[in-house]
Amino acid sequence: MIRWFLLAGQLAAWGSASAQECGLCHRREADAAKSSPMSHALQPARGSDFLKNNPDLGFRGGNFSYSIRREGDQASYSVTDSTASMNAPIEWAFGAGIEGQTYLYRWGGAWYEASASFYPEAKGLDWTPGHAGRLRRNLEEAAGRKIDPEEIRRCFGCHSTGAVWGATSGPESLTPGVQCVQCHTGADRHAAAVRRGDAKGAAMPKLAAMETEELGNLCGKCHPSWADIATNGPRGAGNVRFQFYRLTNSRCYDAGDTRIACIACHDAHGNLSQDNSAYDSKCQLCHSAADPRAKTCPVSKGDCISCHMPKVDVPGLHYQFTDHWIRVSKPGDKYPD
Ligand code: HEC
Ligand code: HEC
Ligand code: HEC
Ligand code: HEC
Ligand code: HEC
Ligand code: HEC
Ligand code: HEC
Repeated sequence: MIRWFLLAGQLAAWGSASAQECGLCHRREADAAKSSPMSHALQPARGSDFLKNNPDLGFRGGNFSYSIRREGDQASYSVTDSTASMNAPIEWAFGAGIEGQTYLYRWGGAWYEASASFYPEAKGLDWTPGHAGRLRRNLEEAAGRKIDPEEIRRCFGCHSTGAVWGATSGPESLTPGVQCVQCHTGADRHAAAVRRGDAKGAAMPKLAAMETEELGNLCGKCHPSWADIATNGPRGAGNVRFQFYRLTNSRCYDAGDTRIACIACHDAHGNLSQDNSAYDSKCQLCHSAADPRAKTCPVSKGDCISCHMPKVDVPGLHYQFTDHWIRVSKPGDKYPD
């Protein structure tokens, strides 16, 4: 307690609560978040490591040539065909780039999603998801998809924090990435109360105590829920991206059991563990002789996810997603959607 009152003076020097500020008192979470993909879900184009490391990217699609070039601090996007060309500075890079990175630019005052995205697995540009089959009757259509103001707010709403929208068409201020307050609602108030030394006003809800469904809905602000996908689709392998929907379809899922909550397997603050065996103990919390409700495996005592959470290739996305519809899946089985 004493330590955080001593920090109050240092805190007063800063404006609103930032991850850096939270980190003064919550070092573990803030350190973990520094390298997490969620906290890097958006970058100003000039900060994109991909664009820094790949200053000259090109790709040919249909009758058009696409290129992204970095000149000095600026990345510019250009599209040409045999008769004409367009060029626009890239403003934002969406995605930490685990699967891919998509670029947004403004042209004639409107926002566009560039038709070419960067894919680390392909080590270069290819069609942005959803673009391969679009009509490309002119340069404008070929270059990108026009995004209406409502959709652009949604993009920033999931990939950044605290976006303020003024009279202009762009966000006037925001913090890139999914920052602390996206999940810890009221943390600004908490930090301010700590600053004042008001221990009562500083009270915070404990997210670790949330029910599985409640937590799923918190993550579901951005990772679409069962109902979203069941109602609106998509069907087919493309919906492997919607982990909450897939998981809810598993026989393992029980809304009243925290052993199958998103945070039973994932650290909300850190990186995804890519060590298969790290997940065995999560499965065995239920699938062990100690719990009569879930059976044990007749085939293996470890490496559970390699057989029961198969990787799925989504055409065009250059990435293998992990199927959260946990099941006995045999080679050649139809993808349940
Ligand atoms: C000056 C120190 C300080 C700062 C800055 C601060 N907190 Fe806290 N926070 C505390 C203390 C002390 C507690 C109470 C811990 C306890 O009850 O065990 C707390 C509790 C919390 C809890 C509840 C933890 C639990 O027990 O589940 C959360 C979540 C939290 N803070 C998030 C934040 C976030 C996000 C920020 C930045 C916006 C922030 N805090 C800024 C000191 C601080
Ligand atoms: C404000 C929106 C938002 C919320 C709320 C949110 N996420 Fe995310 N999450 C994202 C975005 C955006 C990405 C993609 C980050 C990237 O790679 O650019 C992501 C990526 C992830 C990843 C993949 C990380 C990796 O290493 O590839 C996991 C796991 C994840 N989120 C889990 C969760 C969990 C668990 C919760 C709830 C406790 C949650 N998320 C809440 C937006 C959100
Ligand atoms: C409802 C919240 C939401 C909206 C709106 C949204 N995203 Fe995302 N985005 C996510 C989540 C969650 C992930 C991580 C899971 C996944 O890969 O699907 C993600 C992943 C991504 C990735 C891959 C990140 C990586 O590290 O590989 C890119 C690129 C991306 N989004 C771009 C966009 C763009 C561009 C828009 C707007 C046109 C947008 N997103 C709108 C939630 C959202
Ligand atoms: C994607 C959602 C999400 C984001 C972003 C996030 N948290 Fe959390 N946080 C959670 C959840 C869920 C829990 C409860 C489970 C746990 O302890 O991991 C939690 C727990 C905590 C706790 C309590 C830990 C304890 O031991 O009781 C603190 C403190 C905290 N977060 C601080 C932060 C800070 C600081 C940031 C920003 C650097 C941050 N969180 C960002 C979801 C999030
Ligand atoms: C039973 C364990 C388990 C639960 C519960 C779980 N996940 Fe996962 N998740 C995994 C595994 C395993 C991976 C793949 C790890 C790797 O890359 O090797 C993964 C990967 C991911 C990814 C990265 C993209 C992908 O599909 O590979 C995201 C995003 C994600 N999970 C989100 C969630 C969300 C949101 C929830 C809650 C609705 C959730 N997960 C619940 C085990 C789980
Ligand atoms: C919250 C407890 C819980 C967790 C955690 C859990 N399961 Fe399950 N799982 C169940 C229950 C209950 C069933 C239904 C009874 C049965 O078949 O065992 C089930 C069913 C299954 C089935 C049979 C599915 C079918 O369609 O017949 C497999 C395979 C499975 N689980 C594997 C796993 C793996 C692998 C993990 C970890 C990634 C895991 N489970 C995590 C509770 C859980
Ligand atoms: C090498 C692949 C493989 C691995 C690894 C594996 N399983 Fe299985 N598992 C199977 C197959 C195949 C079946 C179906 C067996 C059958 O129907 O005879 C199965 C069946 C199951 C069932 C359903 C049992 C029933 O009686 O209906 C559960 C639950 C299960 N596994 C859980 C797990 C868990 C937990 C782990 C990790 C400790 C695991 N599996 C590791 C291949 C595997």
